[in-house]
Amino acid sequence: MENTVLKTIAQRRSIRSYKEISLTTEQIDILVKAALDAPTARNEQSWHFSIVTNKDLMSEINAETCKIIDREMDIFYNAPLAIFISGDINNEYSAIDAGIAVENIAIAAESIGLGSVILGLPGAAFKSEKASEFEKKLNFPETHKFQIAIAVGVPAASKDAHEVLPDRISYVK
Ligand SMILES: Cc1cc2nc3c(=O)[nH]c(=O)nc-3n(C[C@H](O)[C@H](O)[C@H](O)COP(=O)(O)O)c2cc1C
Repeated sequence: MENTVLKTIAQRRSIRSYKEISLTTEQIDILVKAALDAPTARNEQSWHFSIVTNKDLMSEINAETCKIIDREMDIFYNAPLAIFISGDINNEYSAIDAGIAVENIAIAAESIGLGSVILGLPGAAFKSEKASEFEKKLNFPETHKFQIAIAVGVPAASKDAHEVLPDRISYVK
């Protein structure tokens, strides 16, 4: 495939194992710029990105999530970075805006040789009794709620592409 954008989109996978390697400031800046370059409804940009490299905080959110989902796992897969996207509860497009931004981050990560996995699971911790504590620690603005997160790092594993389902498309002429 010649087109590098299409190649990057096709090569992205959800990576669920990461090496013990911190990301550089330059790498993080690239991811943040990709997030901020995403379109938003009415160009409101009412989202907020919490860029987390604090492993202790990730462990706290992991522990609370595992408690709620009643399963022992590392929901961040040992990634050195997690980006939490919160959105304004008064904007009906917050979830869509966050979804577009998170995919921009995933594609940007792939394009610079990093792996990522989009994470809905941490949402459980933001509905728990510790929700406001986490919202404060992550610096969510007052009117904002968790929308989606993404873990990024140097991949320690590869993964096959997901099966594509052609019957999910109708060509209406
Ligand atoms: C909105 C959303 C939430 C997701 N949440 C999680 C999650 O919490 N944990 C996880 O391991 N993967 C999560 N995923 C990743 C999906 O499982 C993955 O995209 C899907 O299995 C297809 O695999 P691929 O990304 O490698 O193509 C999520 C993906 C999306 C789009």
